Amino acid sequence: MAREVTHEERGPVVLDDDDKGDDGLIYVCQCGLSDSKPLCDGSHNATTDEADGVVYKYPNGDADGERREVDEIVYADK
Ligand code: FES
Repeated sequence: MAREVTHEERGPVVLDDDDKGDDGLIYVCQCGLSDSKPLCDGSHNATTDEADGVVYKYPNGDADGERREVDEIVYADK
């Protein structure tokens, strides 16, 4: 599985102690669906039933929205 996610940020963010969870660890989102990027907010739970070999699009990056399958991820020319 893979997913296409749109990001609008143009630079880095600095993390500090306030970003640590109750266990003292910082959980960084790798699924791309968190509303609290770069921190994980649990939105990755929406991906647990994604099938291998399928590419998904989550409209507006909304993990709670209706996802759809796409044929492929199309990259804009650089
Ligand atoms: S890994 Fe993306 S929300 Fe948890």
